[in-house]
Amino acid sequence: MTAPRKIIIDTDPGQDDAAAIMLAFGSPAELELLGITTVAGNVPLTLTSRNARIICELCDRRDVRVFAGADKPVARKLVTAEHVHGKTGLDGPTLDEPVMPLQTQHAVDFIIDTLRSEAAGTVTLCTLGPLTNVALAFQKAPDIIPRVAELVMMGGGFFEGGNITPAAEFNIYVDPEAAEVIFGSGVPIVMMPLDVTHRLLASKDRLRRMAAIGTAPAKAMVEMLEFFERFDVEKYGSDGGPLHDPTVVAYLLKPELFQGRHCNVEIETKSELTVGMTVVDWWHVTSRKRNATVMRFVDADGFFDLLIERFARI
Ligand code: BDR
Ligand code: CA
Repeated sequence: MTAPRKIIIDTDPGQDDAAAIMLAFGSPAELELLGITTVAGNVPLTLTSRNARIICELCDRRDVRVFAGADKPVARKLVTAEHVHGKTGLDGPTLDEPVMPLQTQHAVDFIIDTLRSEAAGTVTLCTLGPLTNVALAFQKAPDIIPRVAELVMMGGGFFEGGNITPAAEFNIYVDPEAAEVIFGSGVPIVMMPLDVTHRLLASKDRLRRMAAIGTAPAKAMVEMLEFFERFDVEKYGSDGGPLHDPTVVAYLLKPELFQGRHCNVEIETKSELTVGMTVVDWWHVTSRKRNATVMRFVDADGFFDLLIERFARI
């Protein structure tokens, strides 16, 4: 048996971030979670840092270390998404306030120290929110960039357009300058855009199967997703809202669920109309360097089977 893959989850929970963290908790044979780093995004940093610890405690994982990171984007004012996630970012179930402490080290320094102390090419970065923390780490310590095994992110959209503006997906829109740093860094990137996540609808039937697990974490997750969906169901008129962030962890567990293409991606940072857009050269019409594997297709039933199977192990 191969050793579990070492990962850091960088996140702004967020109900769908919570689902991604739970998917990692349910997969200890494949994934060794070195730490969770939090960033401002869906809600401000104090709340994302609180929410990450709530998820750990809900799943009886007080051993996981949670590090707070950047409280604002690299060069802009923070934009949040309470209209989607609710006031706390985890609206839906009644959840206890966390008692486990935050680590005293800053998330950016934890990322740097971990990449320097672990063997080169063994740590995978999983980003579920704006890319601020990782961009700051890359700028502060460029020596860590070639040590990253892979950076798997939820972010961007191309054929599907955007979800916060017609052109931009939320995570990239919040901190386009950070995204520009990452896509220009040379780190191997796997990108899970809206093109994939909009195929992953948490339908009533899928939520019923999740609820049937019967455990406290599964029950809370169903209540979170029911809350999270109400906005998207109204927006897209579909049976269930898209589930974004667990795609990152699902890719590490079962890459064969996804199909995409290695191509060039550039980030728009200047245009007022399209700021935060991920400009994907899907058809290779430029000679720009291919810097990311952009996923476009997903086996939705396989994805939900995996999610439900792993949630049942928590
Ligand atoms: C992304 O934005 C956030 O609202 C979600 O948590 C996800 O990471 C989807 O655009
Ligand atoms: Ca997120």
